[in-house]
Amino acid sequence: MGITNISDKLTRRILVLSGKGGVGKTSLVSNLAIALAELGENTIAVDANLTTPNLGMHLGLHLTSKTIHDVLRDKVDVRKAMCFHPLGIRVLTGSLNVNKIRGVNAGRLPEVTLSLMGKADYILMDCASSFGQEVISTLAACDEVIVITNPDLPSVTEAFKGIKIAGQEGKEVLGVVINRLKDKKKLKKEDIEEILGVPVLAEIPEDENVTASISTKTPIVSYKPNSPAAKEIKKLACKITGRPYKEERGIFSRIFGW
Ligand SMILES: Nc1ncnc2c1ncn2[C@@H]1O[C@H](COP(=O)(O)OP(=O)(O)O)[C@@H](O)[C@H]1O
Ligand SMILES: [Mg+2]
Repeated sequence: MGITNISDKLTRRILVLSGKGGVGKTSLVSNLAIALAELGENTIAVDANLTTPNLGMHLGLHLTSKTIHDVLRDKVDVRKAMCFHPLGIRVLTGSLNVNKIRGVNAGRLPEVTLSLMGKADYILMDCASSFGQEVISTLAACDEVIVITNPDLPSVTEAFKGIKIAGQEGKEVLGVVINRLKDKKKLKKEDIEEILGVPVLAEIPEDENVTASISTKTPIVSYKPNSPAAKEIKKLACKITGRPYKEERGIFSRIFGW
């Protein structure tokens, strides 16, 4: 897996935002980071969900000794707090220790991501499920926003608020990812685009492999790379980087054209 020369590229700081909890932010951050790395993009995943961090858990890095909470408390330099994931990304995890979590200063988040500018192609950020002060600080630490929603009215309503708040904070909303698409009776892509006024970037299907991959702490793009959800996330990574998506074909399909 190659790391691109980043000297002539700007670091893109992208936040995955939802407002509503449980829609798939952390799953998207962990998988998209790896999908970007597979494209040769030097990527850092940051757990900016300071009150309930669990990105490390999704990536099997939950026992790291240094975390974003240590960085925000000025105990550790950010470069020393990042750990390497075997699938080719660097990760700034959150602490699971409530004593470290309580009272941490989210207002320093912009400083943290600014200090990483020029050190990666992409900084991908997870955040809390609310629009409180912590998420406002997280917004200040990014330039672009991907909003994620499920295809139901409660989460689309929160996505709508998220788009408004991101706009008020002067951030560019790249579009919306619809996650857990299954029931034909649910809201459709066109309806969601009309309600939200931003393009749909990806439609990730409901895929039982996602839950299985989380329990093995291996993101689905690696756990089941040919599953429907993994393919859609890889497609999204191509879209973000401006590359055409080429579906990987198995040995039989390559030899016999199946
Ligand atoms: N595409 C999907 N298909 C099936 N289950 C999913 C999918 N995306 C997420 N999930 C399930 O939803 C749960 C919540 O996802 P998570 O990424 O933790 O959401 P959030 O970070 O927004 O709270 C996960 O534990 C997983 O089981
Ligand atoms: Mg989460």
